[in-house]
Amino acid sequence: MEKLVSLAKRRGFVFQSSEIYGGLGSVWDYGPLGVELKKNLIERWWRSVVQEREDIEGVESAILMHPKVWEASGHVSSFTDPLVDCKQCKKRFRADDERIKGKPGEESAQCPVCGSKGTLTEPRMFNLMFKTFIGPVEDAASQIFLRPETAQGSYVNFLNVMQASRQKIPFGIAQVGKAFRNEITPGNFIFRTREFEQMEMQYFVKPGEDEEWFEYWHEERMRWHYDLGINPDKLRYHPHGPDELAHYAKRAEDIQYQFPFGWQEYEGIHNRTDFDLSRHQEYSGKKLQYLDPATKDRFTPYVVETALGVGRLFLVVMADAYREEEVEGTTRVVLGLHPSIAPVKVGIFPLVKKDGMPELARNIYKELQKLFAVFYDDGGSIGRRYRRQDEAGTPFGVTVDGQSMTDNTVTVRDRDTLKQERVSVDQLATYLTERLRP
Ligand code: GAP
Repeated sequence: MEKLVSLAKRRGFVFQSSEIYGGLGSVWDYGPLGVELKKNLIERWWRSVVQEREDIEGVESAILMHPKVWEASGHVSSFTDPLVDCKQCKKRFRADDERIKGKPGEESAQCPVCGSKGTLTEPRMFNLMFKTFIGPVEDAASQIFLRPETAQGSYVNFLNVMQASRQKIPFGIAQVGKAFRNEITPGNFIFRTREFEQMEMQYFVKPGEDEEWFEYWHEERMRWHYDLGINPDKLRYHPHGPDELAHYAKRAEDIQYQFPFGWQEYEGIHNRTDFDLSRHQEYSGKKLQYLDPATKDRFTPYVVETALGVGRLFLVVMADAYREEEVEGTTRVVLGLHPSIAPVKVGIFPLVKKDGMPELARNIYKELQKLFAVFYDDGGSIGRRYRRQDEAGTPFGVTVDGQSMTDNTVTVRDRDTLKQERVSVDQLATYLTERLRP
């Protein structure tokens, strides 16, 4: 984990938020390589979930929503964690924090930070939603929340999307967007943060067909992770027991990855039944139902949800791709990222800064720039330039050398096999496009 965090910072994948001010607890910024990787992950998800399907539509709902949404969704009453305070050092913990010795509220309980005994309060419920105010008056009537999940934006748009797109059930609504949770024990780098991004899809089905669709999405989502090249040995399902189920779910399953700090969830598949649509019907007074054109049955659809965190997926692909290898007596660090998500697809290097090599390399750079994210580097030995791109996860390196100046060919180095092939400059774009296909 330490090596990953250090690489992430050194190479500009992830920085601590407001670092010059000492950072802000569990909030992170994405740097030049990180933002490319993150966008590529989102793009790959969007392509497979929305663009390559006829039955799923996209939306982008606002982060700020009517406060009644969160009453209806159950988040005001149920989206809580039990918390204890230390009266001595004023620190706050989750009641189930493993570092607490004894039972909070009792004399023998010991604060994990200051070590005082008998200073921990009884657990109290703490709502994880961030609050703010809309408009100039900061009173209870103007209090709203930063959304803790994108899903509700899809539910409140259920009728709009269905009518505008003329979809028939079963169909889905997908969206990517920020969510906020005032997590009490955030941590493990970007694994649990207070501001994060979700890629969620709500699939509306006929009641009674929900179990079948749950099975479908269970298979489909795991296949997606395999296709991304994640090591299958480090992936598993974790079905939720009754005490783990969220307030809206009848059945839920996590897709877990074996992170350096243990098996943890990064995607959830939930059978939310008609809980959300029914509650919104009740709170808004608007009918959120579907009229089956064939049977003339009217019903409130059930929802099977797939919910994936962008930051967690980012950490999965980084952890899974990181490797150290011995090459010619030195250790190289490689991020073996799937080419479709690599922040830079091709590094372009003139072997030396003379004899026309920089000019030809620049021309190649300008041409390839029209097709993919490319990087030009003429600084330091060619070996060091290769290593820098290995660490960034760049799948190919194109080198312009002396021979290039006589026969218009370049060498193309493969990040993983380290094999080098001579390719004609005229064929280069085709050669790379074929190998970078998703
Ligand atoms: N709409 C359902 C929902 O939000 P969830 O299991 O609470 O379900 C879904 O969250 C996914 O969002 C998680 O699997 C995780 O990838 C991501 N996520 C949730 N809380 C997070 C946090 N505090 N930091 C980073 N990612 C988080």
